[in-house]
Amino acid sequence: MNAVSTVAPQPITDKEVNAALDLAVAQVRRNLPQFTYAAQNHSSVNNFYPAVANDQWTAGFWPGELWLAFEHSGDPVFRHAAQIQVQSFLHRIVNRIETDHHDMGFLYSPSCIAAWKLVGDEDGRRAAILAADQLIERFQPIGQFIQAWGRKGRPEEYRYIIDCLLNLPLLYWATRETGDPKYREIALTHARTTLANSVRPDDSTYHTFYMDPVTGAPVRGATKQGYRDDSAWARGQAWGVAGMALSYRYERIEEYRQTFDRLLAFYLNRLPADMVPYWDLVFSDGDGEPRDSSSASITACGLLEMADLVDADTAERYRMLARRMVKSLADHYAVKDPAVSNGLVLHATYSKKSPFNTCRGEGVDECVSWGDYYYMEALTRLSRRWSSYW
Ligand code: GLY
Repeated sequence: MNAVSTVAPQPITDKEVNAALDLAVAQVRRNLPQFTYAAQNHSSVNNFYPAVANDQWTAGFWPGELWLAFEHSGDPVFRHAAQIQVQSFLHRIVNRIETDHHDMGFLYSPSCIAAWKLVGDEDGRRAAILAADQLIERFQPIGQFIQAWGRKGRPEEYRYIIDCLLNLPLLYWATRETGDPKYREIALTHARTTLANSVRPDDSTYHTFYMDPVTGAPVRGATKQGYRDDSAWARGQAWGVAGMALSYRYERIEEYRQTFDRLLAFYLNRLPADMVPYWDLVFSDGDGEPRDSSSASITACGLLEMADLVDADTAERYRMLARRMVKSLADHYAVKDPAVSNGLVLHATYSKKSPFNTCRGEGVDECVSWGDYYYMEALTRLSRRWSSYW
């Protein structure tokens, strides 16, 4: 296993970016036999992903890796495999297989919108619009938010989560694609509710937030996957950073940019020397807790997205931060030897059980499907002018 560094990383060079992408693409190629007609489990087990049915919230990330591999290599074998996945995603949304939750953007942006944008796959476009239709069905007018999980309207499930910011680009895209404003209006409303409640005065974020199903008033923040209700789950903070950058790309609302900076500053102040956080930002060196490398990859993508939207000096600062994070990931977390793992990035944490949270412990100190995807996306963003799938 790669030794985690205690030294502050230098910015990754273009040559190193290319080499890291080559390595990632070679690993994606090795995985084709196992995952062309199957989905990849949300996280690895002893560093190896099992193949599963396309019924988890994370199934979009492996096809996203296929599209990124296609873009980097030009090899049609990746396009072929990705378009087989698109058919599976169309089947899933037409038949509403495990789609009764808010994760439609995570599922359909890197798989089906990518297919439409890159190769004009009409089934990809159709599937993504159906997914956007499904997502807006979860909008709750009482409280003005998209309900994350569970049966719609149930009082114990009447909440949204910070992660949902990554589902909003699907809605902005659907309005642009169809000309129907309803998707965008719900995205804007949900983002407004998130900013009103989920960001604490110290610029950390709540993972989930309950609303009152009768009055619509905000009730309380709570965690599911963070350490405790008042700590800052490292991936939640990263979803906030990346989500604000993507929202700002679609809608130049100053509050999005300011919130991006606030969440980012909180995050950067709590990173260990190698710029890859522990799974909750309450932890630091010596606590004996695992990292969440996926949080760093997500944040790097948020930095690179925002860098395209701001003045040159700020952009340079964001790009250098992203290059340093990616250098750390490439040198000390990325898989170099396929005998060690069939994933791309080690040391991520999906859900670690704590005495105070409500998740099932799974995927602790493993590869996670989105960690691999966002690592490749960050490398791709550094390697070319990339047209986003989001
Ligand atoms: N969106 C769920 C997670 O980040 O684990």
